[in-house]
Amino acid sequence: MMDKSLLSLKGFKSTMVLLTVLALCSGAAIILQAKYLAQAITGLFNGEKLSQQFLPILLFIVFFLLRQLLALLRDRYMQSFSVKSGSAIRQSFTAKLFNLGPNATETEGTGNLVTMALEGISQLETYIKLFLPKVINMALIPLMIAAYTLTLDIRSSVILILVLPTLIFFMAILGYAAQRKADKQYESYQTLSNHFVDSLRGLETLRLLGLSKRYDRNIRQVSEQYRKSTMGTLKYAFLSTFALDFFSSLGVAIVALFLGLGLLGGEIVLLPALTILILAPEFFVPIRDFGNDYHATLDGKNALKAINKIISLPASKVDEDTSITQWGHSSRLEVDSLTFQYEEHESLTDLSFSCKGFSKIGIIGASGAGKSTLVNILAGFIQPNEADIQINDVHVPDFSLVDWQKQILYIPQHPYIFNDTIANNISFYTKNATREDIESACKRAGLAEFIQSLEKGLDEQIGESGRSLSGGQQQRIALARAFLDSNRRILLFDEPTAHLDIETEAELKRQMSPLFKDRLVFFATHRLHWMMEMDQIIVLELGKIVEIGTHEQLLERKGHYYALTQAQMQGTEVQNG
Ligand SMILES: Nc1ncnc2c1ncn2[C@@H]1O[C@H](COP(=O)(O)OP(=O)(O)O)[C@@H](O)[C@H]1O
Ligand SMILES: [Mg+2]
Repeated sequence: MMDKSLLSLKGFKSTMVLLTVLALCSGAAIILQAKYLAQAITGLFNGEKLSQQFLPILLFIVFFLLRQLLALLRDRYMQSFSVKSGSAIRQSFTAKLFNLGPNATETEGTGNLVTMALEGISQLETYIKLFLPKVINMALIPLMIAAYTLTLDIRSSVILILVLPTLIFFMAILGYAAQRKADKQYESYQTLSNHFVDSLRGLETLRLLGLSKRYDRNIRQVSEQYRKSTMGTLKYAFLSTFALDFFSSLGVAIVALFLGLGLLGGEIVLLPALTILILAPEFFVPIRDFGNDYHATLDGKNALKAINKIISLPASKVDEDTSITQWGHSSRLEVDSLTFQYEEHESLTDLSFSCKGFSKIGIIGASGAGKSTLVNILAGFIQPNEADIQINDVHVPDFSLVDWQKQILYIPQHPYIFNDTIANNISFYTKNATREDIESACKRAGLAEFIQSLEKGLDEQIGESGRSLSGGQQQRIALARAFLDSNRRILLFDEPTAHLDIETEAELKRQMSPLFKDRLVFFATHRLHWMMEMDQIIVLELGKIVEIGTHEQLLERKGHYYALTQAQMQGTEVQNG
């Protein structure tokens, strides 16, 4: 019933100790409150004066207030404990996401991760806040009450204890069923959030293809599924509340019945009978409390499971110990029999290539050939299953070396634009850059004119809540970042211009070329015209290197590369004609 992962929360033990002490105190307060109330009533019933009952009434009020005060303290404490635990979990969750890099978003889905980090954590906080005190109350308070009634009347105590298993039995069955429902509900919730984010991202494409209506229906269907499963869980929640209330009322009624018979038969006197009658409902309260909130906490329990799954993923490794020298004119990289496999099928098979100094290497191939996979391996985001890699004569298992990654500039198809000013966006990775440095980087990246046209110039806000940029402008921001950072000597491009029109691409190409100077460049693309700038071309087909060589060598061979150029030439002819 108790999640093992809760044990790892910071301060868990002391919280449990505190909750136990609070539960014992409130158990005692409940018993004493009943005892003095029964005493006062019995006294009055026996014809004593109200003034004689002053002390028991006062004690009743004291213990009644004490009980409420304890509950208040407990809630206050749990509130702060759950928020603290929530933010600690959120921290390790985001730290893990940073560690895992771009692959986590690919396998888990962005929408899902965002939901986990925001809503999941708040559900988790509710879970911690409600679940822990209720479990402890349920474990201790009924026991104390049963023990106390045992000293008053054995029969009543036995009845209470006999009803208990029935209650727990029903609670367990319904809880189990609800858990299964809630699991399913959580699944459809994850699907819904991923679906939604994906559709938002692809809205432009969907509209262009005239598919937005169909997607609209699709989202509606998924939400409808989610509504149904939510209602399903609620049904169980209501059913279980009903069962708990029914059986505990029945239990109290049976106790009352036997107490009445006992009073009539003279086997028991009023004072203990009344005390037991007042205590009987209290006996069931913690159990009902737990049962009722159990369903409310299921979401949090599932969120905890999902978040822990991510947190416990093996950390993406970063090797801080192996040191390699700064890439320079005479540096060498040798990659031999590199193989990489996504879950089911092989994506890269037996790649071997080598390069030297500041050479430019084109990686060309159709969509799905494995270009991005290779670039991700070179960046150290993912690790090959097998490979023999040598960087400057140092053997390394993969590229996740701090010393290697410190030298990399990575420019993807859609560089990320932060919600900040242009200046901060450009100097994001080079904090010590001066204003002049940023301005000159902008000029070299072809941003000068655009920035001049802005009211606030470099201080204009861009990103999601600011001015939105065209694809070409985003790419120029990425270039400006690269121009600013002259220490990094290895450039990785993954189709930086694939989404741009030919004119923009041609202009960008002009501005990009100076970046290539004195750098090792890997340039993945399916557009052939880039290959003229390259010293070596790796032709990928279905995850294998089918050809390797210079542009001229490959043309002469009249093989795959030649076929690609022919095909693309025909393509342009068709376009032009
Ligand atoms: N995250 C992933 N999980 C499973 N398979 C993937 C993943 N990313 C890519 N692949 C597969 O690996 C192959 C190579 O993909 P990719 O490197 O993206 O090709 P390219 O960049 O050349 O278009 C494709 O068959 C693709 O379906
Ligand atoms: Mg790709």
